[in-house]
Amino acid sequence: MKHTKVKDLLNSTKPVDDVLIKGWVRTFRSNRFLAINDGSVIHNIQCVIDFENTSEETLKRLTTGAAVAIQGNLVESSGSGQQFEIQVTNLEILGDSDAEKYPMQPKKHTLEFLRENAHLRVRTNLFGAVMRVRSVLSFAVHHYFQDRGFAYVNTPIITGSDAEGAGEIFQVTSLPLNNIPKTEEGDVDYKQDFFGKETNLTVSGQLEAETFAMALGQVYTFGPTFRAENSNTSRHLAEFWMIEPEVAFNDLDANMDLAEDFIKYVIRYVLENCPEDLTFLNQRLKQEESQKKAADRSPMTLLEKLRFVLENNFKRVSYTEAIDILKNSKPNRNKKFNYIIEEWGADLQSEHERYLVEKHFKSPVILFDYPADIKAFYMRLNDDGKTVRAMDILFPGIGEIVGGSQREERLDVLQQKIKELDIDEKELWWYLDTRRYGSAPHSGFGLGFERLVQFVTGMSNIRDVIPFPRTPQNAEF
Ligand code: 4AD
Ligand code: MG
Repeated sequence: MKHTKVKDLLNSTKPVDDVLIKGWVRTFRSNRFLAINDGSVIHNIQCVIDFENTSEETLKRLTTGAAVAIQGNLVESSGSGQQFEIQVTNLEILGDSDAEKYPMQPKKHTLEFLRENAHLRVRTNLFGAVMRVRSVLSFAVHHYFQDRGFAYVNTPIITGSDAEGAGEIFQVTSLPLNNIPKTEEGDVDYKQDFFGKETNLTVSGQLEAETFAMALGQVYTFGPTFRAENSNTSRHLAEFWMIEPEVAFNDLDANMDLAEDFIKYVIRYVLENCPEDLTFLNQRLKQEESQKKAADRSPMTLLEKLRFVLENNFKRVSYTEAIDILKNSKPNRNKKFNYIIEEWGADLQSEHERYLVEKHFKSPVILFDYPADIKAFYMRLNDDGKTVRAMDILFPGIGEIVGGSQREERLDVLQQKIKELDIDEKELWWYLDTRRYGSAPHSGFGLGFERLVQFVTGMSNIRDVIPFPRTPQNAEF
């Protein structure tokens, strides 16, 4: 007999005879009421046991976490809290769970505790909801691009290029750990690493995606990227997933339009397709907010925030205008935004970004035309000779969610920049070929998938929106 998903039973419009479900015990009370969750939906289904006809031993084994197969009839429930329940006719315990030792007790655990048990935390309502939303969001990403004729490109994970030039790379070795060549000083000689070549885990698939955009027109990547930045923040992971569309013939305005339309599409998609999980996450956040001091409370609920993004245009502001706003603002009034006023040319710190988004514009912001000196080599130089066609999208509570640009398509300008930055032109011969043969204006951006999941789920720490977070402290599992 095929088993039915709890989600389908709970959505049933009428009673159903003889159903089979398989799942895990969440709670068991009064020797009668079993709450079973099978992961298909956040809600448990109540299964009512005829305990007089169930052995003492079986009743004892119905502990939190145990895996069970339950056969019975789906009937209208007389209790409050659920429309349907299962009157159990047959119960089989597939896997016991030692009630004394099982770490996921039916109580509220701290997020820190759950992080240490990343292999089990997905069994909680919270992480079940977050991970289902994450899954639906990734489907929405593919849906958006595939629907619009973009080709999905799988760019290399092991690569010789450091696309961003920020030096935050994890080097790769193909050599046994006890046989890595050493320099004369006794340091590891990384140059020898990958079958005689120097390679690293990719920080971005952009450069490879550009080569594909110059043939297929519109492409996107969606894959893991790696950064060895030792920043212990709630926004950084050493391993994260990035979505990088790249479009031939798009200028920066078209790039902004694409990014805004894309973000709105995926948010709308989860609003429509994850109502139970989002309702749960909304409630959870409301409860958390209610415990804060009035002044620190968010004026909007999670669902209101999501709808706000859909209903309002992102504010488009040049870097230069943003610096003026920051200079003219009154910093020390609110301690939360106690930043130092910046001069033109400086990179914005996250507190500047938060000021612009949360205090000044109260809306997502697209900042563009950044100083060339603080951005990567491949961005298109503006006629002023000092700014580049870069754009960052800043989100409330998140900060930078997207980084992108119009690319420098002029071979001579690009070569000049490469020289200035002391990058070895020979290493980029393949990239420069796109500018040698049929070069054309093109643009793209990278969206940090986990930051998007954070925004949509309202989780404040990025480690809680990826199944197994890789951070400087944590590489188990
Ligand atoms: O701004 P970034 O570094 O841009 C690039 O990598 C470009 N090559 C993208 C492109 O134009 N195709 O990174 C893009 C986004 C950031 O805006 C942020 O959302 C996310 O990637 N990101 C991280 N997310 C989690 N942990 C980290 N350590 C991240 N670093 C960047
Ligand atoms: Mg960036």
